[in-house]
Amino acid sequence: MNRELRARIMHIVGAGVFTGLSLALGCQDGSGGAGTAAGGTGGAGGTGGAGEQGGAAGQGGSGGQGGVGETRCFPPEEVRANAGAGGAGGAGGSAATCPSQYHPNPVSCVVYENGRLEDGQCCYDTNNLGVGACGRPFFVGGEPRLAGVEARADWVLADATDEPLALDPTTRAALAEAWLADARLEHASVASFARFTLDLLALGAPPALLDAAQRALSDELHHARACFTLASRYAGRSLGPGMLALDGALDAPTLAGAAASAVREGCVGETLAALQAGAQRSRARDPEVRRALDRIAADEAAHAELAWAFVRWAVARGGEPVRAAVARAFDEALAGVRAARGPERAGIDAAAWHDHGRLTEAERARCHLDAAREVIAPCAEALLSAPPAPPAAPTAIAGLDAPA
Ligand SMILES: [Fe+2]
Ligand SMILES: [Fe+2]
Repeated sequence: MNRELRARIMHIVGAGVFTGLSLALGCQDGSGGAGTAAGGTGGAGGTGGAGEQGGAAGQGGSGGQGGVGETRCFPPEEVRANAGAGGAGGAGGSAATCPSQYHPNPVSCVVYENGRLEDGQCCYDTNNLGVGACGRPFFVGGEPRLAGVEARADWVLADATDEPLALDPTTRAALAEAWLADARLEHASVASFARFTLDLLALGAPPALLDAAQRALSDELHHARACFTLASRYAGRSLGPGMLALDGALDAPTLAGAAASAVREGCVGETLAALQAGAQRSRARDPEVRRALDRIAADEAAHAELAWAFVRWAVARGGEPVRAAVARAFDEALAGVRAARGPERAGIDAAAWHDHGRLTEAERARCHLDAAREVIAPCAEALLSAPPAPPAAPTAIAGLDAPA
């Protein structure tokens, strides 16, 4: 599956052909490939039982935060160094100014919130130990921006199942927490594509990219609803997003800055998300989870292709300064992928965890490392070594090749 996505991206970076078509993909591993078309059916895992109520993740009420995994503390120097590598935001010049949110690497799904100083360290609550396919993050000032969580029913899909769940309370609460964290990230992806659309307009991008960005925004809205639907099912009550703060989110883009962001968030983040969602899907047995992951895996692959197409266009248009910014962004993002490793969850039913669409941290890390080595790094190398103005392929969409 990695080879399939690599071939599609190579076609984009080499020949300027971008179709926007979706594929269902997944990390290659011993458990088999990803599902194929959306709407596939799964086994009977996760159903039956007496409909017991597990622990709910997230807090009700306006602006509430998602479920909390555990607290992790970092030396202030590490927080500052990470913030510096990320290019913006961060802890500032003093340990007394731990940022409210901290992202230990630019493409990890794990978000650390409620930053506070404890015994000279910056301590955070992790909110996504479920290590899901997080898609395109919404960074503001170098930090991921997320909405809170509210008790509400309008984000739950109408065709949601009300099948009872046979899960122990610990596993059920962990599933609610993990899918809720994914839901908040998918919700933030809607904002990310809204901003990307404005960036494309500001930068004079071709209409094919704008059209694909608009479709991606709609995809992310569905992903968010699907994940809130799953989170609500495991939590035993309807959950949806609160308000999303947009202060500081809109700046006039530069071509180099937008290209570097697309590398981090799309070429790396959404390529990983597509392959990871496929890996989650390949292990899942619950029909509703499989249905959600089928669509997410296919859509994230299309979003990754969009990012690669945009970056290729930006490099062709902007020349060496943009190429250099893109090369730096790939180096930093791939280093982050190689370094990312979070804690494993304790006390959960591993079989049920897989049945309901989740990976262990070791599985996620393996998936990401393989994707970085087999897909992202070779495609980045091809993109960066491509001639500045390649000839248009016969089937290329007009405007995606080097500007006249
Ligand atoms: Fe996406
Ligand atoms: Fe998504």
